[in-house]
Amino acid sequence: MDKFLIRGGKPLNGTVKISGAKNSALPCLAAALLTGETVTLHNVPYVKDLITQRRLLEDLGATVLTPELHTQKIKAANIEIYEAPYELVKTMRASVLALGPLLARFGQAKVSLPGGCAIGTRPIDLHLKAFERLGATVSLEAGDVIARAPKGRLTGADTFFEKVSVTGTENVMMAASLARGLTTIRNAAREPEIEDLAELLNKMGAKISGAGTSEIEIEGVEDLGAAEHVIIPDRIETGTFIVAAAITGGEVEIENCQPKHLQAVIEKLRETGVEIETRGADKIFVKRGDPGLRSKDVTTEPHPLFPTDMQAQYMALMTQAEGTATIVETIFENRFMHASELVRMGADIQISGNTAIVKGKTKLTGAPVLASDLRASASLVLAALAAEGETLIDRVYHIDRGYETIVKKLSAIGADIERITENLK
Ligand code: EPZ
Repeated sequence: MDKFLIRGGKPLNGTVKISGAKNSALPCLAAALLTGETVTLHNVPYVKDLITQRRLLEDLGATVLTPELHTQKIKAANIEIYEAPYELVKTMRASVLALGPLLARFGQAKVSLPGGCAIGTRPIDLHLKAFERLGATVSLEAGDVIARAPKGRLTGADTFFEKVSVTGTENVMMAASLARGLTTIRNAAREPEIEDLAELLNKMGAKISGAGTSEIEIEGVEDLGAAEHVIIPDRIETGTFIVAAAITGGEVEIENCQPKHLQAVIEKLRETGVEIETRGADKIFVKRGDPGLRSKDVTTEPHPLFPTDMQAQYMALMTQAEGTATIVETIFENRFMHASELVRMGADIQISGNTAIVKGKTKLTGAPVLASDLRASASLVLAALAAEGETLIDRVYHIDRGYETIVKKLSAIGADIERITENLK
């Protein structure tokens, strides 16, 4: 397994370009299953999860051309099977996004029930409940979810999510696009990625309104067609690089980003003393304020509030702030695994249930640490950049899932980081 070797203590300075949003590209690739015509997506990030999603589409029978690294042209004209197999779903939960499109277009879908992952059980019961509201029959057989639409087509209905679910909202929005009649999604997720998917679906001929609010209306149509779409920038990668500049005391310009997609993160980081200046619609300039960082409490909530995907990165930053910060994680039940690794590097963090108490400022010292999930890995990289001495981060395949060429991007702004590839003899 690959490792990162990082020698910390160097302020980051320079310009970094943000890649396309992983969590928008994943549903947008799945949306291409809704039509037999070509869907062209630009600004698709070159990360492991998208390679997995592309493989899933090809396993289903779609053809995927990549005329250049960040463009995918998908043509799902000859879909022969309607099943997302276990070996794919177990590596990437977002494969469940194939459910809605397959069910809507072909009247049937079989998707391995995703197991839990490091950060929590992550069920899909709310997805399935909503599909049943749309008239589907759903059964569980040998670990697979089997969904069928009677007479081959779903019927629009009023659906409600008792918990806000990002991929749940996306799955139902895609399924309802081809249903007969009107569908309403209440208590819908409001993430920018939902709006991006709705924009693609409407370009394909869908009739969706309200995306980005907690109530979305979808008027079903007979079929969907070709479209071309540019994926929005990754707001979590943007937030991660803002923290990288702040935690190392550097000055970094971040390009190709959308500051309005991470307002809660920007406001919270400003409160801690990070100077963040937005320059135009797609640029941010970041530097750590002179008096240093101050501890500020944060609670993770669905968009537009502070995102759970920035919690681990924020925790790393709070180890370098003066005071005590209380971090409450309300979305996932086990998303503090980075804390024990940060403690190995010298952080003072007490965990009690879904609450972490971070006392700062503590001196971080490089140490061998273990990545456990995508955002925990980012947290360890950030701490290593601020730490004195060498940090060896193992299992960095986690970070490769969602950060495009992070070693190259960090090195280009002054980080001393290298990837150590273990050749298994
Ligand atoms: C999406 O996951 C993101 N992934 C996650 O990003 C992100 O952390 C999460 O939303 C929350 O913002 C993608 O978009 C591909 P949820 P998702 O359904 O959709 C519970 C990353 O780091 N729930 O919004 O799987 C669930 O257990 C990843 O890029 C049910 O109980 O998350 C969780 O506690 C990690 N039943 C909460 O709701 C369901 O049917 C929110 O989950 C669905 C969800």
